[in-house]
Amino acid sequence: MIFKQLFDTETWTYTYLIADLGSKEAVFIDPVNTHIDDYIALLDEHGLQLKYSLETHVHADHITASGLLRQRLGAQTAVSELCGAEAADVQIQDGDIFTIGAGEQIKAIATPGHTRGSISFLWRDRVFTGDSLFIGGCGRTDFQGGDAGALYDCITQRLFTLPDETLVYPGHDYQGRWVSSIRQERTTNPRLAGKTREQFIEIMNNLNLPKPRLIDEAVPANRYCGLDENERQDAVAVRDATRPMRSEMSPQDMVAEAKQHIAEVNVTTAKQLLAEGNIVVIDTREESEYAAGHIDNALLLPRGVLEFKIGNVSELTDKSKAVLIYCRTGGRSALAALTMQQLGYKNVLSMAGGFEAWQNA
Ligand SMILES: [Fe+2]
Repeated sequence: MIFKQLFDTETWTYTYLIADLGSKEAVFIDPVNTHIDDYIALLDEHGLQLKYSLETHVHADHITASGLLRQRLGAQTAVSELCGAEAADVQIQDGDIFTIGAGEQIKAIATPGHTRGSISFLWRDRVFTGDSLFIGGCGRTDFQGGDAGALYDCITQRLFTLPDETLVYPGHDYQGRWVSSIRQERTTNPRLAGKTREQFIEIMNNLNLPKPRLIDEAVPANRYCGLDENERQDAVAVRDATRPMRSEMSPQDMVAEAKQHIAEVNVTTAKQLLAEGNIVVIDTREESEYAAGHIDNALLLPRGVLEFKIGNVSELTDKSKAVLIYCRTGGRSALAALTMQQLGYKNVLSMAGGFEAWQNA
């Protein structure tokens, strides 16, 4: 596995990368939009494929890179269902598990209080606490549905009950510290160690902190995975197109479900339609697969970015135009066809068996 702790010096934010070396699948926790190019370079360097971009909450102090990572790499964005981040692919519930590779599991633990939808993520022997628990502190509770009592309850009942040696990786640190442990926080955190619930609430209600510099910009943007206003409409369309495909639905189930709602044609029919002309062909595989061989004149629109790029394809401005979509074996193209239908395309056909069947025919 690969584990990296990255730091944004502008906002003192920690971002985490977890990757499984066998499958090359990776996850970011709390990525920051200004580092998008660094993230992509880092993933490329290790040959990793980003599966999820997870948020501990809707941030008030920086803009997330989740939406950009979805656009550029097809990663699924995930944030608590209580955050009001409608555009996110996965609306996280307490106890949800994100799996990468054969067995790396990242479990969501609801830790509300800093915000109503704050989540901590537990992976192996470490917990990523976002702004719920800092090293020697905790996130403020005076906006975004914050609640000091709720924060005390979840820290003491959910985080401090983890094994003592569990490593605590926070969402920020303002003094250059990067990791702590449950034991250290339980016994030395000045806001919590030896404090009653009432004392903690008293402390939190008297912090008198200034309003975060970026809050008016960051919170609305982060509800849309950090995308700007022009990109938001697309993001909502994507959300509508992919629901109710929650994280626990297997790819096979998703494909089976999609096939009930779309039209498929076999290779013979596809060849006839192409010969007749007046049909747009879309290859929805990855760039490398396309480069290794594709149907003549097929437009490359990988499944992960299709929704975002489709608006810029001049051949597809007329949504009543006939479209034939294919992938390697017919699974991804079924999902893509469903997405296109939900985006308003009236005449979309998925090629059963995909490019493999095409080559065999
Ligand atoms: Fe925060």
